[in-house]
Amino acid sequence: MRVLSIASECAPLVKTGGLADVAGALPAALRAEGVQMRTLLPGYPAVAAALQDGAEVAHFDDLFGAPARVMAGQAAGLDLLMIDAPHLFARPGNPYLGPDGRDWPDNPERFAALSWVGAHLGVHGAGGWHPQVLHGHDWQAGFVTEYLRQMGGGPATVLTIHNIAFTGSTDAGRMHSLRLDPGRFTVDGYEFYGGISALKAGLMGAEALTTVSPTYAEELMTPEYGMGLDGVMRYRREALTGILNGIDTDAWNPATDPAIQPFDSLAGKAANKAALRAEMGLPDADGPLCTIVSRMTHQKGLDLVPEALPVLLDHGGQLALLGSGDPGLEYAFRALAEHNPHVAVRIGYDEALSHRLIAGADAILVPSRFEPCGLTQMYGLRYGTVPVVGLTGGLADTVINASPAALARGVATGIQFSPVTADALRGALARLCLLYKDAETWSRLVANAMAHPVGWDQSARAYAALYAGLATQR
Ligand code: ADP
Ligand code: GLC
Repeated sequence: MRVLSIASECAPLVKTGGLADVAGALPAALRAEGVQMRTLLPGYPAVAAALQDGAEVAHFDDLFGAPARVMAGQAAGLDLLMIDAPHLFARPGNPYLGPDGRDWPDNPERFAALSWVGAHLGVHGAGGWHPQVLHGHDWQAGFVTEYLRQMGGGPATVLTIHNIAFTGSTDAGRMHSLRLDPGRFTVDGYEFYGGISALKAGLMGAEALTTVSPTYAEELMTPEYGMGLDGVMRYRREALTGILNGIDTDAWNPATDPAIQPFDSLAGKAANKAALRAEMGLPDADGPLCTIVSRMTHQKGLDLVPEALPVLLDHGGQLALLGSGDPGLEYAFRALAEHNPHVAVRIGYDEALSHRLIAGADAILVPSRFEPCGLTQMYGLRYGTVPVVGLTGGLADTVINASPAALARGVATGIQFSPVTADALRGALARLCLLYKDAETWSRLVANAMAHPVGWDQSARAYAALYAGLATQR
């Protein structure tokens, strides 16, 4: 089975969030299922630098404004197809944002180009390699199906929704510069509330839709989570499946992680905790050391933390946070740390520190208002760092709440709270502190967490089965 994955970011080459982790992990996970996956990426400087000796497999005289080519080769263990189009992608730093921190004004065209090339490779192949399925990720791959129509058909299509909050919307006047067929500016095409939405186009056009957890698949069909696209999701209900993300269990393996002092049980966490406290300037304390590793946005619910935190601190707990994003939140957490010796905050993005935090902490807080899947709670499970999570999306599907019944049966792995409010978070932190005090219960919780499967095996099989089903229908 040959599949072309079409993504705007891919770890370890370029990453702003979990989408990159998933796009980076899928090819290796699927190899075991007999799927040969190649990944189409924009030629950002970091990708171009990694793919030095690629071979040209396609050429465009005019790809949204200037000539471009597609280069094929291997980089970072990935089978890559890279769009060499300096006028669109030779911009350093974040793939979506300019130096002023705002979206590049031509983002609609930049990712339309990604979709255009994806469709083109689907129809014409890449140097003799012909994908049987085009698998796009999020709005950046949304126009693939529109362009396939214009090109006269092509392979089967799958679109994965990693976050429906990003709809890839722009105004209707952009139709021409996006090379869209004006006749498709309709409810069953790419029209969305009088404008254009790349995601809507893909949601209507792709043969199969997936999202990254079963619970989020259900949530997407409701007005509360559907972000205006819930009607579309209900309409496409039959095409939609929720396939839970896994994590990279090699990169996130507490027994071999080079960023930490390796461990395989609760006892081994102590050395990491001591080192982490020293690094973050936190004193010793009796309560649980909590961590947060997150983008700082409304989605992640971090604004609830300062309000709920006193209950943790009153029980002798601590917080060590790593994140960046909303300037107001960055400021609020910096201020918290300044006024409280038991709170340490690092603003920024730091992969190695994220490993040390998750290895050294007792618990990881993920108070998201919505969370399509979420990866950090799974890192927490694997590292025996008990997840405290909002009951939503993938957080609902990956954590077993320490209810009295689950504790009695010895199956709990973490704490869930609902609704996602400061009050409920406060209650969850109080429960955490109680559980932490009871050494026997706590060690059971940690052991359960570490034993919980978080790899790709089952989900890779689900993707492989989906591809096979689509390919045989043709
Ligand atoms: P999302 O994609 O919505 O941000 P996920 O939980 O799916 O949420 O994925 C986030 C990924 O980004 C994880 O791999 C997480 O460890 C990483 N991450 C987020 N913020 C930081 C940070 N400040 N430093 C290092 N890694 C981070
Ligand atoms: C999105 C979601 C996150 C998910 C990730 C990977 O960024 O916000 O919940 O884990 O995609 O699918």
